Amino acid sequence: MPFIEHVSDSDLERLALERVVPALLAHGFFYLDGLLGELAGGAVLDQVKELHRTGALQDGRLASSAPGVHRSSIRGDKIAWVSGSERGCEAVSFLLSLIDKLVSVCAGRLGSKEIRERSKAMVACYPGNGSGYVKHVDNPNRDGRCITCIYYLNKNWSDKHGGVLRIFPEGKPFVADIKPLFDRLLLFWSDRRNPHEVQPSYSTRYAITVWYFNSEERAEAKRRFRKRTASKLQQSSSSS
Ligand code: OGA
Ligand code: OGA
Ligand code: MN
Repeated sequence: MPFIEHVSDSDLERLALERVVPALLAHGFFYLDGLLGELAGGAVLDQVKELHRTGALQDGRLASSAPGVHRSSIRGDKIAWVSGSERGCEAVSFLLSLIDKLVSVCAGRLGSKEIRERSKAMVACYPGNGSGYVKHVDNPNRDGRCITCIYYLNKNWSDKHGGVLRIFPEGKPFVADIKPLFDRLLLFWSDRRNPHEVQPSYSTRYAITVWYFNSEERAEAKRRFRKRTASKLQQSSSSS
């Protein structure tokens, strides 16, 4: 039976406390299959396919781009940022509220400061032309992102389709390979503890990602960013 159909707040709390928190603390990542079930998961998939069909998904951006490096040789996905309140995103919104609940129960028991906010949801599609995303860390420089949360949407995925998410846990002698299977939810620390890559994907690969923020680190990052912007403005006005 899919998780969602019998989920009560106490089930969610048990999942968070008995499985998610211990896994994050011990291994730095956790995944769960059958989060929404066929019906609700299928509705999310349909909404994502519709975003794709209507051209809402655009080339993913790089944090910094070196001249002469093709974006698509680093990441080959097409993305859209959604809040969930858009028309036609009701099922996505339902998914996000469930993940919010789960993470809010975990927060505070993770040996870290507060987690109160998250990013919008990034809907991503690797088109299946063999592109992926090279090994990277989501938050290498304390931008505030603390937990990466990915919901996968791919039915009938098999090994020949590639598209595996490979995590290289820092200082560990092993890797973790996670297939992007339909209705699978994955959480991992966004910082340097979890370098990861998306291996070349040979079939259309859909996922929805949100990043939860550590409030303190986020506020600090915003202060840094404001200072840098202010000094850049000052430089450009004094040199003109
Ligand atoms: C930790 C930790 C998440 C966070 O387990 O030590 O860092 O907020 N938790 O960074
Ligand atoms: C990312 C990423 C992983 C995945 O977008 O930063 O690492 O499995 N995605 O889609
Ligand atoms: Mn990533």
